[in-house]
Amino acid sequence: MRKLVLGTIAAAMLATSGLAADYTMKVSHVVSASTPKGKAADFFEKRVEELTGGKIDVQVFPNSQLYGDGEEIKALVMNNVQVIMPSLSKFTSVAPQMQLFDLPFIFRDKAHLYNVMDGEVGKTLKSFVDAKKQMIAMDYWDAGFKDFSSSKKPLIVPEDAKGMKFRIQSSKVLEAQFKAVGGNPQVLPFSEVYSALQQGVVDGTENPLSNFYTKKFHEVQSSLTLSNHGYLGYLVVMNEQFWNKLPKDLQEKVSQAMKEATELERKESAVEDAKIMDELRKYSKETGKLEIIELTPEQKQEWKKAMSVVYPKFYDVIGEDLIKKAIDTK
Ligand code: LMR
Repeated sequence: MRKLVLGTIAAAMLATSGLAADYTMKVSHVVSASTPKGKAADFFEKRVEELTGGKIDVQVFPNSQLYGDGEEIKALVMNNVQVIMPSLSKFTSVAPQMQLFDLPFIFRDKAHLYNVMDGEVGKTLKSFVDAKKQMIAMDYWDAGFKDFSSSKKPLIVPEDAKGMKFRIQSSKVLEAQFKAVGGNPQVLPFSEVYSALQQGVVDGTENPLSNFYTKKFHEVQSSLTLSNHGYLGYLVVMNEQFWNKLPKDLQEKVSQAMKEATELERKESAVEDAKIMDELRKYSKETGKLEIIELTPEQKQEWKKAMSVVYPKFYDVIGEDLIKKAIDTK
């Protein structure tokens, strides 16, 4: 009975809050709510609702619940969802120049990456997305550097990748990167990666640690190579029609909430990487089922040499100047 009463009160409160809201903002993403992106999306929900006094009701849908890869950009353009934050690789069909972020070994470290993202190159790249119908490019969010994983041969030198099938995101640069080392890349939506690895549809993949761990890919891979060979980040985009309908004061509050969420997201990504590494080392030691490989500087250099051959292939698509500017950024 008590449960029933409490349930009724909660439902009534929800209905009231739904009525009170002037706008509903659906936010969709494909990763777990416990990743830096998932946490920042939930924080954004909380802050928008707080700052607008509930005038905007934000609803976050993680784990491809609402839209998966390949659907979310279309859904945003149709205003069926108002905010998405796909990885930069998934903007290939919208703004192929974004593939700059996929170039292997382009960033020396996080400081270099942030200087590129927050500087002229990042702004130019955002403007290509902004110019598209119904898209407002908001902030870059961070997942981290990617590592290789495999269920076959551990990946230590580039030759180890020969003949192996790799899951990739929908990016031509990533396709070229794996082909450069003799691998067979295959585009798959994120929601299908676990089963594809489990069933041997693909042998290996590349992920930032947060995605690798929260989706339990370590259960279906036998080695993880700490290669840090590439980067995975996001661009938060909002539907333009939705944004234009918001009164100026609410726009300012949404921007404020986004700014705070972006700061939190970057911090989370740094903290999570260290925590997850500890968890994975523990898992590896306790189960003996995951070999964690540290590369020597020489081995890393071999990967860099083998994969960097793809750069000139993308001078036309991305812009040679932009690539050089990113490399020369301090
Ligand atoms: C992937 O498909 O591997 C990532 O883009 C998923 C994500 O959103 O981090």
